[in-house]
Amino acid sequence: MDDFSFVSPTRMILRRGAIALAGEEVKRYSDSVLLTHYGDRFIYDSGLRDRVMNALEGAGLRCFELPGVQPNPTLDLVYKGIEICRKEKVGFVLALGGGSVIDTAKAVAVGTAYDGDVWDLYLGKASVEQALPVGSIMTLPATGSEGSNGSVITNMATKQKRDIMSDVIRPAFTLMDPELTFTLPRKQTVYGVVDMISHVMERYFSSSVGNDLTDRMGEAIMVSAMHNARRVLKNPADYDARAELMVSSVVAHNGLVGIGRAQDWASHCMGAQLSGYYNIVHGATLSVLIPAWVEYVYRSNVPRFAQFAVRVMGAEPDWVHPEETAKEGIRRLRAFYRELGAPQTMQEIGVRSDADYAAMAKLACGGGKIGCIRPLGEEDVIRIFRAAETNSEE
Ligand code: NZQ
Ligand code: ZN
Repeated sequence: MDDFSFVSPTRMILRRGAIALAGEEVKRYSDSVLLTHYGDRFIYDSGLRDRVMNALEGAGLRCFELPGVQPNPTLDLVYKGIEICRKEKVGFVLALGGGSVIDTAKAVAVGTAYDGDVWDLYLGKASVEQALPVGSIMTLPATGSEGSNGSVITNMATKQKRDIMSDVIRPAFTLMDPELTFTLPRKQTVYGVVDMISHVMERYFSSSVGNDLTDRMGEAIMVSAMHNARRVLKNPADYDARAELMVSSVVAHNGLVGIGRAQDWASHCMGAQLSGYYNIVHGATLSVLIPAWVEYVYRSNVPRFAQFAVRVMGAEPDWVHPEETAKEGIRRLRAFYRELGAPQTMQEIGVRSDADYAAMAKLACGGGKIGCIRPLGEEDVIRIFRAAETNSEE
C-alpha cells in the first residue's frame, strides 16, 4: 500500500424532502448564498427552483441566483458568479443540479477567494488555497462532484476542458432526495452509471499492489451500480434503487477507494478532450473510450484485468490462460454498455473525422504521458481514438 492522506468532510443527507433542509444547512456557514442551477424548464416547471428558494429565504438568508449552467460548464458563467459574490459579499455557494452545476459552484467559490483570474488556477499557474464553502442539492448521480475535491470547467475560447483538485472545494454537505432523480431521462441515468463505475475503474486499474480492502470496496460499488442501474431502467421510480445510485455516485469518487494506490485517469483525460472539442457529454465519452483503452492496456497487467473480469463481471476464471479471462471481462463490459444503450463508437457520439486526433492527443498528454497501468504518449492516445472508431473486439 502506498502512503496516503485522505479527508472527506461532506455531510451526506439522504431523505425524502431533503430540500427543506437547505436553509438551515447553509446557515451553519453564512447568512448569504448564491444558488446556481441549469435555469432550464425542468428546474422551473418541476417547482424545484421555487422550493429551494423558499427554503433559503425561509431561513432568513440573503439570496442571489446564477442560472444558465450547461453540460460541460463554461468559464464565462463562472466569471458572472464571481462578480455577484464579490459585489454582494456572498458567503456560500449552493448548487442545485448535477456535476456541471456543482463544478460551476466550486469554480465560483475558488474564483471569489482568489485575487486574480480563476482560469489561472485551472491552467495550474497558481495553486488553489482557499474557497467559499460550497454545498449541493443533487439531481443527478454521476460525477460524484457532490463529494469530490474536483471541478472541471471548459474555456470555450481555447477549447480547453481543465480541472482543479483541492480539498478546499469539497462540498460541506450534499442533500440527496432520490425522488428528485425520478425525472431523469434514461440517457442521463445511463451516462451517470457509466461515469460512476468509471471513477472506480480509474482507481482500480492501478499499478500499485497490496490494496485488498479498497479493491473489494471498489468491486462492491461497481457490482452494486450495475445491479441498481438495471433496476432503475426497469422502473425509473424505484426509490431504493435510485437511492443506491446516489450513494454510489458519492463513494465512487470521494477518493476513499483510491487511497494508498497510484491511479490511472487516462480515460478521463482523453474523454475531456472529446468534450472540449465537440461538447460531447462526459459519460458518453467514457463508454466509447474505456473499452478501447482496456483493450489497449490490459496486457500490461493481466492479473488485474482478470480479477476485474471474475469479481466484477462474473466471468469464469481460466487459471491456465488468465489473458482469456481478462478478455472475457472486456467482452462482458461491452455487453453491459450495450445493454444500457450507451454509445460505443466515435461515430455514435458524432466524431466522424480523425482531423483533431493529433491536437487532442497533444492536449491530453501535455508534453508527457498519461495513465499509470500503462503510461500513454500521444501516439498511444491517437491509436486508442482510432480503435474507438469501431470498438471491435480483438
Ligand atoms: O438541461 P436538461 O435537458 O434539463 O438536462 C439536465 C442537464 O443538462 C439534466 N438533469 C439533471 N438532473 C436532472 C436532469 N433532468 C431531469 N431530472 C433531473 N433530476 O441532466 C443534464 C446533464 O447534467 P450535467 O450536470 O451536465 O451532468 P453530469 O452530472 O454528468 O455532469 C457532467 C460534468 O461533470 C464533470 C464532467 O466532465 C462534466 O463537465 N465531471 C466532474 C467531476 C468532479 N467535479 O469531480 C468528475 C467527473 O469525472 C466529471 O469530469
Ligand atoms: Zn467522470
